Amino acid sequence: MEENRRSFGRMPDGTQVEELTLENGRLKCKLITYGGAVRSLIVPDRDGKAVDVALGFDTLEDYRAQDKYMGALVGRYANRIGGAGFTLNGVEYPLCANDGPNSLHGGAMGFDKRVWTVEELTGDSATLSLVSPDMQEGYPGTLTVRVTYSLAQDMLKIGCWAKSDKDTPFSPTNHSYFNLSGHDSGSVEGQYIKLRSARYTPVGAGLIPTGELAPVEGTPMDLRSVQRIGEHIDEPFDQLALAGGYDHNWAIEDWDGQFHAAAMAYSQDTGIAMSAHTDLPGIQFYAGNFLNGEVGKGGAVYAKRCGFCLETQFYPDTPNKPGFPSCVLRAGEEFRSLTGYRFFTLDNAGQL
Ligand code: BGC
Repeated sequence: MEENRRSFGRMPDGTQVEELTLENGRLKCKLITYGGAVRSLIVPDRDGKAVDVALGFDTLEDYRAQDKYMGALVGRYANRIGGAGFTLNGVEYPLCANDGPNSLHGGAMGFDKRVWTVEELTGDSATLSLVSPDMQEGYPGTLTVRVTYSLAQDMLKIGCWAKSDKDTPFSPTNHSYFNLSGHDSGSVEGQYIKLRSARYTPVGAGLIPTGELAPVEGTPMDLRSVQRIGEHIDEPFDQLALAGGYDHNWAIEDWDGQFHAAAMAYSQDTGIAMSAHTDLPGIQFYAGNFLNGEVGKGGAVYAKRCGFCLETQFYPDTPNKPGFPSCVLRAGEEFRSLTGYRFFTLDNAGQL
């Protein structure tokens, strides 16, 4: 085995899980083949000191025991599908209801719980693949997915390619939790966030979008100028109350399918800033409201809001919302998406 590849334990059926290490002289990233998850992401702080900004666990057993989608690749459909079902081409497809009456993050055995195959590994990139058989978790079509993680200068790039033999809804994401003061540093409420979007998709019960695109203007959802994550998060605003904090999809400004920066975050403690880039139409800013004291790497306790996610995606519940940009991957067509997380340092939040 190459030195950037080691065993990370075995599944109950004996399947080997591996850990892969990518490095490019600036960033270092550890991935595991269980869930295709990012297990650590080491970036330099303003003094050049290495900081692990991604939450993760020490053992495969810990990964298998948690339900937070820690660092994982999520699919076939990231986020929620209302009523756990959809109709496509006149056929109804019931899905697994694993979040009250709704389906969350691909169902009971989504991509996050599968062991991915290593297709290719170089010093600074890894390509993982998965075949999801026809009707797995209720979704039509045999779907082949390939995800390439690569380190390009100061950016972790996550490229996804997929093809299905039947029309199917598809919206993959990466569910990394970031803490720019270090994964073990506690709450992210003092860290800064900025989201370029002027509109978001408000939700109703069960966090299912109502179908509207609402202006952020004049509400705590307006994150267009830099502010602390905790600044307005507990305000008595119905959307925040419903979700227990930020856990919403923002619409990418002037979405044109090109790769653009959508969000930025910053820690004054370390000076580490990040930007999130995507070519998909939406981004979920989730403030880790449901983290619940999980014990992570080195015994770090991941309490409520100890990490945030910036999940690039199609809007939640698109399969039931004809007004949203379509997430249907047509039979035989190729799906491609690119997500990027770029890391740099700043002196203060005003520079974000
Ligand atoms: C969702 C949260 C959900 C979490 C599961 C996030 O992507 O937006 O609502 O609870 O995943 O850990």
